[in-house]
Amino acid sequence: MNYSIVVGASGVIGENFAVKLAKQGQNLYITGRTKEKLELLKCKLLDVNPNISVECFACDLIDFSNVNALFEHFISLNAKVSGLYYVSGIDTQKAFILYDYDKIIKQSRVNFECALSFTNFALKNRAESLKILVVSSMCGLLPMPYFAEYSATKSALINFFTALRYEVDKLVKITILAPGSVPTRRDVIEDIKVQGFLGKLSSKSPSFVVEKGLKALDKNNRICIPGFYNKIVNFFNKITPNFIKLRIIKRKFSKKTKDAF
Ligand SMILES: NC(=O)c1ccc[n+]([C@@H]2O[C@H](COP(=O)([O-])OP(=O)(O)OC[C@H]3O[C@@H](n4cnc5c(N)ncnc54)[C@H](OP(=O)(O)O)[C@@H]3O)[C@@H](O)[C@H]2O)c1
Repeated sequence: MNYSIVVGASGVIGENFAVKLAKQGQNLYITGRTKEKLELLKCKLLDVNPNISVECFACDLIDFSNVNALFEHFISLNAKVSGLYYVSGIDTQKAFILYDYDKIIKQSRVNFECALSFTNFALKNRAESLKILVVSSMCGLLPMPYFAEYSATKSALINFFTALRYEVDKLVKITILAPGSVPTRRDVIEDIKVQGFLGKLSSKSPSFVVEKGLKALDKNNRICIPGFYNKIVNFFNKITPNFIKLRIIKRKFSKKTKDAF
């Protein structure tokens, strides 16, 4: 049987992916840290589409033995991967000097390293065709002081998956989703409110972002930046010298510390 794996299905954007894929009739293998959240989501997905098969496996991506156990469980199902939706991510906003070693490792492992491990697994255990969508961020399109590791890991995803598109055959589609603001967790919603009118312009609902991502993946587009305003921001990002935009970001991002994970 073929499955689409959704990594980070217990989060807001991840759940939206899972629901939309269930509506498409895809069998789903969902993962996140919390078993209870996954079990609830499994029931919801089977309500959405009783004709699909849903497997869940709780896994902390920071723990390699957990990740290996998940891979072994998937293989034990005699299953093949027809889709990989890598959504998990940790965003920490503070001066890099305030990080400890543990924090550095966690963010790079969840945001980047595990995206590569799951992709490698998906390629080695693929169905005839395979779709891969990875959630980066507009923050990955430029270096960001006080958000430095987050933006660097999201940028690394863009570079890696752009390169990988040239290594795979025509039956593998790969899209990088780079949203602006998406009202998901309470702290993110609060951040968007604080940004006022511009926050509102950049903000796109989880459902909108996921729909755009899935359409882009169907077309095998390299990158998807949902929302007209965000596309304009990206245009100005490209033409503005670093010394100007990084000073603006420094002023804005040094004012607040956020460490939700
Ligand atoms: N919201 C935005 O404005 C925005 C903008 C651009 C990009 N993004 C990206 O979109 C993705 C989803 O964001 P979201 O807003 O939907 O956030 P969210 O609701 O907080 O979801 C984060 C997901 O990552 C999982 N996760 C975190 N640490 C983990 C770990 N150690 N092991 C396994 N899973 C872990 C969480 O699992 P648990 O539920 O078990 O904690 C959850 O499923 C992230 O990659 C984020 O960087 C978000």
